[in-house]
Amino acid sequence: MNSNEIVLRDDSFLISHTDTRGKIKFASDDFCTVAEYDVQELIGKPHSIVRHPDMPKAAFQDLWETVKKGEIWSGFVKNRSKTGKFYWVYATVYPYQDQDGSLGYISCRTKIAAREEIAYYEALYKKMRAKEF
Ligand SMILES: Cc1cc2nc3c(=O)[nH]c(=O)nc-3n(C[C@H](O)[C@H](O)[C@H](O)COP(=O)(O)O)c2cc1C
Repeated sequence: MNSNEIVLRDDSFLISHTDTRGKIKFASDDFCTVAEYDVQELIGKPHSIVRHPDMPKAAFQDLWETVKKGEIWSGFVKNRSKTGKFYWVYATVYPYQDQDGSLGYISCRTKIAAREEIAYYEALYKKMRAKEF
């Protein structure tokens, strides 16, 4: 295992809420612990604060196109922590509407149990990134 990797606990549950532009409105304790931020450092920041450079642009294009249509998106995401470490999650992003009518998104992330899945997406995203340049 790479020493730069943060591996989630089996029961870790990383939750964040954003507004329609992807600005963070809420982050759960597990999210903050794994991403190595205090919650105050995250609120109001764009969600790309945890973006890892290994992630292909197409993954987030797909995420945004899906949730803007009002549909649920799921996928494998490699994120970067505050100190430059990385962590893999399986994320599901839900569009929602508050009682006052305002729209937003919620992401729930869990550990990817199978190491082979991480290896698969690491290789796939590398190929996708190579095609972006
Ligand atoms: C609810 C929600 C959760 C998101 N979670 C992540 C995340 O964990 N990591 C990430 O890199 N981008 C996440 N994004 C996508 C970011 O908003 C952004 O599109 C992405 O980091 C790419 O950055 P860029 O658009 O500045 O290129 C999330 C978006 C939404 C709406």
